[in-house]
Amino acid sequence: MKHYTSIQDIDSLPTWVNDAKNLKANPLQAKSLGQGKTICLLFFNNSLRTRLSTQKAAMNLGLEVMIMNFGSEGWAIEFEDGTVMDQGTSEHIKEAAQVVSQYCDIVAIRAFASLTDKVKDEAELVLNGFKKYASIPVVNMESSVGHPLQALADAITLGEQNIKTKPKVVLSWAPHPKALPHAVANSFTEMMLKQDADFVITHPEGYELNPEITKDAAIEYNQSKALENADFVYVKNWSNYKNYGQIINQDTDWMMTKDKLGHAKFMHCLPVRRNVVVEDAVLDSDQSLVIEQANNRTYAAQIVLKKILEKL
Ligand code: CP
Repeated sequence: MKHYTSIQDIDSLPTWVNDAKNLKANPLQAKSLGQGKTICLLFFNNSLRTRLSTQKAAMNLGLEVMIMNFGSEGWAIEFEDGTVMDQGTSEHIKEAAQVVSQYCDIVAIRAFASLTDKVKDEAELVLNGFKKYASIPVVNMESSVGHPLQALADAITLGEQNIKTKPKVVLSWAPHPKALPHAVANSFTEMMLKQDADFVITHPEGYELNPEITKDAAIEYNQSKALENADFVYVKNWSNYKNYGQIINQDTDWMMTKDKLGHAKFMHCLPVRRNVVVEDAVLDSDQSLVIEQANNRTYAAQIVLKKILEKL
């Protein structure tokens, strides 16, 4: 594996989950692997977990780490070929990606969806621009359409629970005051479709995710029905995909409550809006796995970086 830009880059999910669990048991076991090498983390958007967990993972592997808030500190990047750059952009992705490749051995990138232009978002201009023009491995720290480090951490978290061989896992939409991207829900769905699980997605009608991603998943519009006998409930808001980036439903009845959760474990990628997406009583209960999901972000990033370093 050269790049890690999608959950589809994982050749065997059970093997990766086991390898990550092994790293978690002894995080410094491969400390010499990254010695003398550098990773550059480029953020076009804000972060808490991704930034600190990826940095921690890199440090556990002995890598030097350079971090840049590209969105606020870097030059505005041009992605179109042949453009007359007499407007807002100052530097072309062709130069930027090649320059970054001279300073480090791996580059990791966070660049969210704009939610205003579906075609451009799905073209993944930043991530694919770096993949095309950089000469070093590229890691996706959440792009327009995917968040594969989060999904891998979620797989590790599920794998640690050992509830039963084929658990029922529900991905449930929740209301949110802001339009949010589809990346987490997309990658979680792709990851779940690689698991031996009874996986169901529930959301209001009209909130269908990209059908290319969900074509092999069960969709149930009745949330109560979807939640029946659930072992794990993953809650996430996403904005409308058809009416791209719009909010067409803020029905507070879709918020996750202790009552609805029943005996299931609760999952969310964080950050989460309390008492909008999920009520306090869920987050503050021992049914919530959100802190362990965040903890597993380190080992998800570490197994990805380890596998990339082993091929350098
Ligand atoms: N879950 C997640 O990616 O968190 P951050 O946005 O804080 O990095």
